[in-house]
Amino acid sequence: MSDLLKRIEEARAAVAQRSAVKPAIGLILGSGLGDLADQVQAPVHVPYREIPHFPVSTAPGHAGRLVLGYLEGKPVVAMQGRIHFYEGYTMEQVIFPVRVMRALGIETLIVTCAAGGLNPAFSAGDLMLITDHINTMGQDPLRGPNEEQLGPRFPAIVGAYTPELRELALDTAREIGISLQQGVYTAISGPSFNTSAELRMLQRLGGDAVGMSTVPEVIAARHMGLKVLGIACITDMALPDAPVVLTHEEVLETAERTKPVFQKLVRGVLRRI
Ligand code: HPA
Repeated sequence: MSDLLKRIEEARAAVAQRSAVKPAIGLILGSGLGDLADQVQAPVHVPYREIPHFPVSTAPGHAGRLVLGYLEGKPVVAMQGRIHFYEGYTMEQVIFPVRVMRALGIETLIVTCAAGGLNPAFSAGDLMLITDHINTMGQDPLRGPNEEQLGPRFPAIVGAYTPELRELALDTAREIGISLQQGVYTAISGPSFNTSAELRMLQRLGGDAVGMSTVPEVIAARHMGLKVLGIACITDMALPDAPVVLTHEEVLETAERTKPVFQKLVRGVLRRI
């Protein structure tokens, strides 16, 4: 067994020892969105620092633990706090938790994040269904030796955001009366926000939103054949001609405000999955 597979197995075994739940769905809860994990029924909390080889999230607004249990009757594992590339972790560390969740049994990954709106039709506080992404982080998380047991050397990423899950999210939003934007998520490595010229470039490239996460985990998930649903919370407008000096606190404040709608949408999707 390769060193990577051994590390995944050790982490999986440590988590499985703490909870008998066999999760079918994994949730990655982004900046300010982690409270959804507090609604998990019969929860077992496993702090990242107690899982062998797990990176520890250092970003404010990220609790740093796995929560296993049931949401809307579905067995889930939620990451309450994610690992970002900008924290200094390698891409392999950033995607390690997704690989462990896969080893625990998930078949679907719901990935959420805070993002700046590049599409002028959006407003801060909107939710955006991610239809596709552009990776401008400068690295592919699968760089390095390929582990054939996880997936192919050259995985297809086209259609990464599973069309049936996107339909399901749109139907859910319609049914429960939530307006849901749709668009392309552009990932930057961070931690600095963008210049006006960069924001203009990202708009011209076809981006509707910009953030510092999500893309590595989605690539890792697709490498392993998981179905993926992505939802971004537009926490601020990142418009080149109306530059605002943004703080992380403002990002967290908007995420906090949007939380009830976000939670309703994700719970509605889980109910229908
Ligand atoms: N830019 C980059 N990342 C972000 C932003 C932004 O405006 N808002 C939330 N995450």
